[in-house]
Amino acid sequence: MRNSSSLAIPFAGRSTADDVLSGVDLAGKTILITGCNSGIGFETMRALQAHGAHVIALARSEQSARDAIAGAGGSGTPVACDLGDLASVDAAIGKIHGLGRQLDAVIANAGVMGASQAEQLYGVEKQFWVLPAGQRSARLGA
Ligand SMILES: NC(=O)c1ccc[n+]([C@@H]2O[C@H](COP(=O)([O-])OP(=O)(O)OC[C@H]3O[C@@H](n4cnc5c(N)ncnc54)[C@H](OP(=O)(O)O)[C@@H]3O)[C@@H](O)[C@H]2O)c1
Repeated sequence: MRNSSSLAIPFAGRSTADDVLSGVDLAGKTILITGCNSGIGFETMRALQAHGAHVIALARSEQSARDAIAGAGGSGTPVACDLGDLASVDAAIGKIHGLGRQLDAVIANAGVMGASQAEQLYGVEKQFWVLPAGQRSARLGA
């Protein structure tokens, strides 16, 4: 039986992305992240870049993704993807497949929180549609 202490996670609420990646070399890795232009997604992308990963950075517009990559001071591939628009998701899938890069990880970060009213997309409440975009984000990496 494993000692429970061996399962302890050495990070807490104040740990940063750089703390988590300390000593981790991501050179040669390609990681896709949605919602790269803001908040947690931006900081995660920045830390991944800083530790050597090539990021495929998704935002609603390619310009927004490009600006985020530049703002993070690293390099990466900007891709437009509005997770509330299936045509945009399909276009992003096509672009990503066209890159010919094997993905090492997909971070389905983008989401909507605290929607003030029950707006619907494709007959589904918007927050639910965009947040479990993990399933479509998984398609992005398929
Ligand atoms: N911060 C928290 O305490 C907390 C707690 C629990 C869960 N979360 C989850 O963690 C994730 C990041 O949170 P955050 O605090 O960093 O939020 P945030 O700053 O509001 O970032 C959300 C990101 O998702 C993107 N996004 C929203 N709808 C989109 C759509 N239809 N298509 C493409 N991108 C879309 C936003 O793009 P735009 O800028 O273009 O809108 C933005 O880049 C979210 O999924 C959130 O639900 C956060």
